[in-house]
Amino acid sequence: MCGIVGYAGGSQAAPIILDALEKLEYRGYDSAGIAVARGGALTVKKSKGRLKVLRGLTDDGASINGTTGIGHTRWATHGEPSDVNSHPHLSLSGKIAVVHNGIIENYIELRRFLTSHGYSFVTETDTEVISQMIDFFYAGDSLSAVRNAVRHFEGSYAIGILFADEPDKIIAVCKDSPLIVGIGDGENFIASDVTAILKHTRRIFRMCEQEIAVIERSNIDVYNAYGERIEKEPIFVTWDANAAEKGGYEHFMIKEIVEQPDVIRKTASPRIKNGQVELGLKNITDDDIRSFNKIYIVGCGSAYHVGKVGRQIIERFANIPVTVELASEFRYDNPFVDSSTLTIVISQSGETMDTLYALKEARKRGSRVISIVNVVGSTIASESEDVVYTWAGPEIAVATTKAYTAQLIVLYLTALYFGQVRACASQADIDSAIKQIERLPEVVGELIESREQVQYLASLYFNSKDIFFIGRNIDYALALEGSLKLKEISYIHSEAYAAGELKHGTISLIEDGTLVIALCTYAPLRDKMISNIREVKARGAVVIALARCGDTAVAEAADHVIYMPEWEQLTMPSLTIVPLQLFAYYVASLKGCDIDKPRNLAKSVTVE
Ligand code: G6P
Repeated sequence: MCGIVGYAGGSQAAPIILDALEKLEYRGYDSAGIAVARGGALTVKKSKGRLKVLRGLTDDGASINGTTGIGHTRWATHGEPSDVNSHPHLSLSGKIAVVHNGIIENYIELRRFLTSHGYSFVTETDTEVISQMIDFFYAGDSLSAVRNAVRHFEGSYAIGILFADEPDKIIAVCKDSPLIVGIGDGENFIASDVTAILKHTRRIFRMCEQEIAVIERSNIDVYNAYGERIEKEPIFVTWDANAAEKGGYEHFMIKEIVEQPDVIRKTASPRIKNGQVELGLKNITDDDIRSFNKIYIVGCGSAYHVGKVGRQIIERFANIPVTVELASEFRYDNPFVDSSTLTIVISQSGETMDTLYALKEARKRGSRVISIVNVVGSTIASESEDVVYTWAGPEIAVATTKAYTAQLIVLYLTALYFGQVRACASQADIDSAIKQIERLPEVVGELIESREQVQYLASLYFNSKDIFFIGRNIDYALALEGSLKLKEISYIHSEAYAAGELKHGTISLIEDGTLVIALCTYAPLRDKMISNIREVKARGAVVIALARCGDTAVAEAADHVIYMPEWEQLTMPSLTIVPLQLFAYYVASLKGCDIDKPRNLAKSVTVE
C-alpha cells in the first residue's frame, strides 16, 4: 500500500524516482506523483492512474530538473483517487512537499486548528495536514519544524519531506509504517521497501519509531525522539536484483510459482542438520518450548490460511493445542494468552498492520512470540522475540504463492522441532518427514512442469460465474487458499466450504453447471469426500477433483481428476497447493486480468 521513494544525489532525480516507484507498483496504487527541489522552488507533478501517465507528464522525468526529490504511489484511504488527492501534497506556501504512507487519525482536529490560523485545504486527504503543520512550525529550520509537527500526529505514518528553501535534503520520519534508508555512493535514498532501490544499493537501515532522518547526497543524520544524534547499523541485503524482475515470464505470479522448488530448498536446507531440525531460535529456549501449553497462530489472508494447515501438523507432532486466528480479530478478541502461550505470527511482508498489532497485543499479555517472516529486518521481525525467515526472496505479485509455500515449510520444521524437543515425535517419524521435505523441491518441480492439464481445465471453465472449493481437514485449509487465489486475481466469485458443512445450507447454491473443485488428497477422509462429490453432482455440479495418485474411485465420482504424485500425507499440502495456484493463474490469464496487480488490492497492507 502506498509507496514512498526519495533520492538525494548527483543525478537527475526524477527518472531515478520514477524507476524506483515502478518497483513498488506491486504494493497496489491508484495514483502517483513526484516533487523535485531546485533553486528555491519545488516542481510537483501528479496524477490519477498508472505510473505511465506520470511518465508522460514529465517526459520520463527528463522535464523536471533537480537532484533531490520524493515520489509516491497512492492507495486511496481518505479521499477518492484523483489528481488533486495524489501525493506529494504541498503546504499553502508551496514551499514544503510531503509524501505519506499511513493514516493521520486526528487530521480533522488538526485541520480545524490550522484553519483557525489562516490555512486552507485543497484536498480531501488526511495527508495535507502534514505539510501544513510543518509549514506552521517552519522558521528556517526544517528539522525542528518536522520535530515539532510530528508531536501532534496520531496514527501511523511514514513521511518523506522536501523543502524548497533547503533543496539538498529530504527529511524522513515514521511510526508504525515501514520506511528504509538506502546508503549509496554519493547518493542516498528513502523507500518503502528495498526492492525500490536494490538497483542502486544494498546497504540499508530501517527507520524506527520516533526517529527523524536528514538525508543528503553525502550525509545521513538520524535523531532519536529526544533529538540526540544516533548511529544506525546498516544491514546488507542479499536479495538478487533479478529476483525482482520478470525474467522472461509474462507475469510475476507464474515466475514465482515456478520458483517454488528453489524456495523450498533455500528455506529448508539450512535448518536440517544431521537428521535433526534446527530452527535457530535465539531467545526462546528448549525449556520454554517444553513449557508451552498452547499455541496461537495469527496472520492475515494467505498467512492465516497457511496457519490453518500448520495447525494440524504442529498438533500432531508437538502434541499441543493450536488455535489459528485472523490477526484483525485476535487483536480485539481479548485472547487468552499468557507466558505459557506461544504466539506464532506469520507475515510475508513483515509490515501488515493488523498482524503487527496482534503481535503487540500478544506480547502485552505476556505471550512469547516467534514470527515467520520473509522480509529481513521488517517491523514484525524486529518486534518478535525470535524470527524464522522464509527465504522466498522478493515476492512481487500481489497474490502470494512462493511465500505461502515457504511459510508451509517453516511450519513443518516448527512442528518437527517442537516434536523433537517435547519428545513426542518418534525419530522414525522425524526421519521420514525430513526425507519428504528434502525431496519436495524435485516433486514440486515436476508438478509445475506438467501443468498443461490444469491449463486445459482452466480453458474449459474460465467463464464460470461461481466456483466452489470443498475439502475436509487439511484439504479444507487448502481449499480456503485455492478459493482466495482464484477470486483475488480472476474476480470470479468463489467460496471454500468444509465439505461436511454443505448439507447445512451451502448446497442450495449448487445448480446445473456450477463448478466445484473437490480436494480429496487427505486420505483419512477421502471416502467422505466421495460422498460429498456425489451430493453436489446430484444437484448438477461439474466436479474437478484433486486426488491421490491412482485413486480411481475419486476419478469415477468426478468429471475431471487431477492426480497428485505418489506422496506421503504429512507434506502433501505442498503438492496440493500447486494446481490450485496454477488454476487461479490460468483462469485469470484467460480472462485477461491484471494478474500481478489485481484491482483494489495491495501487497503490503499497512493500514487497519
Ligand atoms: C495482502 C496480500 C496477501 C497476504 C496478506 C497478508 O492481502 O495480498 O497475499 O496474504 O496481505 O500479508 P503478509 O505480508 O502479512 O503476509
